[in-house]
Amino acid sequence: MSGLFITLEGPEGAGKSTNREYLAEHLRAAGLDVVLTREPGGTPLAEKVRELLLTPSDEKMDADTELLLVFAARAQHLAEVIRPALARGAVVLCDRFTDATYAYQGGGRGLSLARIATLETFVQGDLRPDLTLVFDLPVEIGLSRAAARGRLDRFEQEGRAFFEAVRQAYLARAQAAPQQYRLIDAALPLAQVQQSLDSLLPQILERCRG
Ligand SMILES: Nc1ncnc2c1ncn2[C@@H]1O[C@H](COP(=O)(O)OP(=O)(O)OP(=O)(O)O)[C@@H](O)[C@H]1O
Ligand SMILES: [Mg+2]
Repeated sequence: MSGLFITLEGPEGAGKSTNREYLAEHLRAAGLDVVLTREPGGTPLAEKVRELLLTPSDEKMDADTELLLVFAARAQHLAEVIRPALARGAVVLCDRFTDATYAYQGGGRGLSLARIATLETFVQGDLRPDLTLVFDLPVEIGLSRAAARGRLDRFEQEGRAFFEAVRQAYLARAQAAPQQYRLIDAALPLAQVQQSLDSLLPQILERCRG
């Protein structure tokens, strides 16, 4: 038995967490074993690394340090949570994964995509998501939704150009591999976003059972 690895991607405020819950409810109702998790984080150790990554600090974090911390947390998360869940046949719904590394550390920070790919293979071997939902929306809308939640984390303090680069990096990845990605217009009202998820459910269920 092998499970299904679904990742939810997109900028802050795009609706990843909200819609992850929505998808989980529907997949559970269909009788599937669903594991909800997130990155950076997903295990106690990886959540400590998340704190390092997200907490604003006076010491400027070197971009390579940031990249390595992201993959260090990912190695732990894969070993403790993702690989065991997939091995027992569960559906893993993961809020952000390596596409976020390409978008934030690659697009946003301008790090070499080839180096990210090297680390991706080092940490993941040949494991890649089966399906990636990219919640896409204009930068200002995402930032205003995130700001409405209160205090900004280390990434949310970045400027508009950073988030524009993040968005473009996500779109480029989705366009390059349309069989893996589904682009979702996350600027629409939540009810309409959920309608587009409803239309994906049959193919997700079929792949889980297939
Ligand atoms: N389609 C939508 N229309 C309007 N508001 C939305 C929509 N989707 C989500 N929201 C609201 O926007 C806020 C951010 O949503 P959510 O936390 O799901 O985003 P996220 O992608 O998980 O963000 P982050 O990356 O910062 O965790 C929440 O208050 C949520 O209720
Ligand atoms: Mg979230």
